[in-house]
Amino acid sequence: MHSPSPSLLDLPVRRLTREDLVPCADLCEDRGWPRDEHRWGLLLSASTAYGVDAPDGKGLMACCVVTSYGPGLAAVGMLLVAGRYARQGVARRLMRHVMKAVGSTPLALYATSQGAPLYEALGFSHSGRAERLEGRFVADGAKASGSGVHTRPAVRTRPAAADDLRELVGLDLPVFGTDRTHIIARLPAFCDGLQVSEENGELTGYAGLWPSGNTHVIGPVIARDTVTAKALVTALAATTDRPLRIDVDARHEELLGWLEDRGMKPAAGTAVMTYGIPALPGDAARRFVPLTLATG
Ligand SMILES: CC(C)(COP(=O)(O)OP(=O)(O)OC[C@H]1O[C@@H](n2cnc3c(N)ncnc32)[C@H](O)[C@@H]1OP(=O)(O)O)[C@@H](O)C(=O)NCCC(=O)NCCS
Repeated sequence: MHSPSPSLLDLPVRRLTREDLVPCADLCEDRGWPRDEHRWGLLLSASTAYGVDAPDGKGLMACCVVTSYGPGLAAVGMLLVAGRYARQGVARRLMRHVMKAVGSTPLALYATSQGAPLYEALGFSHSGRAERLEGRFVADGAKASGSGVHTRPAVRTRPAAADDLRELVGLDLPVFGTDRTHIIARLPAFCDGLQVSEENGELTGYAGLWPSGNTHVIGPVIARDTVTAKALVTALAATTDRPLRIDVDARHEELLGWLEDRGMKPAAGTAVMTYGIPALPGDAARRFVPLTLATG
């Protein structure tokens, strides 16, 4: 007797653990994304990851990560479906599962052009953009504006120290809009570089640099103003020989132009989309770059 194979949409969704790090990285590679084991290490411990095992026994068919920031916000990221199972409703079903799991918590995410139509269909609305820049950062770019005079911003930066953590959390809260102590506490281990800016003994910003394949990613960047953001980026860029990647909130046009003047090249951006809130909470003027697109 022929028995019909179970629908892909009936396969169980399970919570992923650190044991799933390699299958998650494999799924990224399958869709042409960087494997990003380092980032998966953070996501599989600090966030809640969901996955569906592939019915052919070859790793995961799909995954998705939710980072919880309390009742006011959760960030969705890393929605991936293996290419051989694409366009069969798997992502839609996994997102519905996730939305049910978080209940009434508002959601935010950075959508690729492939993901945006699905999120729109699920009721998410567009609330902004992030522009991606990649490449080698040339500190005193040949095309830098000015009369050839060295225009180093007059902002004091230094590597973060262990006893900065409490002040850093306090600085972050009104900017991110909700407490993310559980993420910030992980930054010293996650980041290859973590810089703070200060004035009169008070922190005015901070920024991290973390590894992704052969690249270093800059994020987050939280800063009092654009001059401070530039100083933090310059300080972090000086600590690495690798090409950089950075996803800048599109409202920060001055920082974007300044980065392009220093050799960074535009790549595919993402749409900021929210569900249950009209826009990201917090202070967009001081929020320049998310930690990662997956975590907000
Ligand atoms: C985006 C992605 C997760 C969709 O997975 P999927 O299982 O193929 O999607 P579904 O079959 O559930 O499709 C749901 C809807 O998404 C949209 N969609 C799916 N794939 C798409 C694509 N390649 N281009 C544009 N829209 C797409 C469509 O609106 C689709 O509805 P339709 O089939 O009725 O037209 C998958 O293409 C993927 O892994 N892409 C690479 C990673 C990525 O960009 N993830 C999104 C991060 S925000």
